[in-house]
Amino acid sequence: MTQAYSRIYGSGFVTGETLVPNERMQLVCDTTDEWIRERSGIQQRYFVNEGTATSDLGVGAAKKALDDAGWKAEDVDYIVVATMTPDYYFPGVGSLLQAKLGIGNIPALDIRQQCSGFIYGLQVCDALIRAGMAKKLLFVGAEIHSGFMPFSKHGWDVVMGRSNEPVTQAEREWNSKFRHLFVLFGDAAGAVCMGPTDDPRRGLLGYSLHAAGKDVEALYVPSAGFAYRPYFSEEHVREGRFVPVMEGRQVFKMAVTKMPEVVLETCQKVEVTLDDVNLLIPHQANLRISEGVQKALKLPDDRVYNNIQRYGNTTAATIPIAYDECKKSGKLKPGDLVAFVGLGAGFHWGAALMRE
Ligand code: ACO
Repeated sequence: MTQAYSRIYGSGFVTGETLVPNERMQLVCDTTDEWIRERSGIQQRYFVNEGTATSDLGVGAAKKALDDAGWKAEDVDYIVVATMTPDYYFPGVGSLLQAKLGIGNIPALDIRQQCSGFIYGLQVCDALIRAGMAKKLLFVGAEIHSGFMPFSKHGWDVVMGRSNEPVTQAEREWNSKFRHLFVLFGDAAGAVCMGPTDDPRRGLLGYSLHAAGKDVEALYVPSAGFAYRPYFSEEHVREGRFVPVMEGRQVFKMAVTKMPEVVLETCQKVEVTLDDVNLLIPHQANLRISEGVQKALKLPDDRVYNNIQRYGNTTAATIPIAYDECKKSGKLKPGDLVAFVGLGAGFHWGAALMRE
């Protein structure tokens, strides 16, 4: 077995401030609580109140992880943030997080691998620690998806429970064009504190990462990029191009095929078998995807963790949130072998194995 060189010392997470049950979605588009639960498992999600940015959620999660690790913010010597929804087009969130935490001029890096961001980021953080470049590294996955939502100001009041006055028929029709996508997402951040370890029985053991750029149009945002001049325009807003395009069935198929494959590939690399894995924490994109992965790997219910029912898909934040819940509830114990796996836009996918 590969020797472990870095491990997680603390974790924590926060969600957006406002809980939004599926019933609120029914008020702004043609959907039902039943459809959303049946097709995705999601019962509710959290959205931030206007004014909260991705870096703010990141700070909330970071403070909890630092407390959990018993570290002070000023001890941190490297920041890595995985996000596809930064506060600004540029710069990334890492440096904003550093400033908001009141930390000195330590390096800050952003990772942009969407739903695989946390897994790609784990490998980068692990490599920085193994190379001696970082000793107390703060790694955050943070997302605010509410900026992708097509709702009007009044639509937002309805979604957030501030108004029960129906949206116009025209808005309902407009929102319904994107219903397959926006019902799936929520806002949240998760963070972990990582550092070196001398204990070869604990820590990150290995990874398998992949990408396939040829299928980019299955899941991307056809706007706000320098393939366009200007990179963002009124036309983009009018055409709703700020909302991600997603070929749901194609992504679904890719996920249930590639995620089990990459878990087995990682086990082989690390020279363990799937039987040795105590817990699988899949990226939370759809409960049916997780169930498909579980079925393909023939794992019993108690060895796969899902919480999408309560948070929706929070992209780079799903895995650290699930990890924190498993750790704090005692589902994950010291010495357990945990597998993280995810697939998302790019396409990017991958898995990581860690001894808790
Ligand atoms: N409410 C009601 N009906 C809906 C909704 C909705 N919110 N959305 C779609 N429908 C309708 C469709 O119009 C369609 O109607 P039709 O049969 O009359 O044409 C019907 O429901 C079935 O639509 P499908 O797209 O076939 O539904 P499916 O079972 O595939 O579920 C879903 C759709 C949930 C999007 C699923 O395909 C999925 O989860 N895909 C993967 C998503 C994912 O993993 N994304 C990656 C992460 S995101 C990232 O990386 C940024």
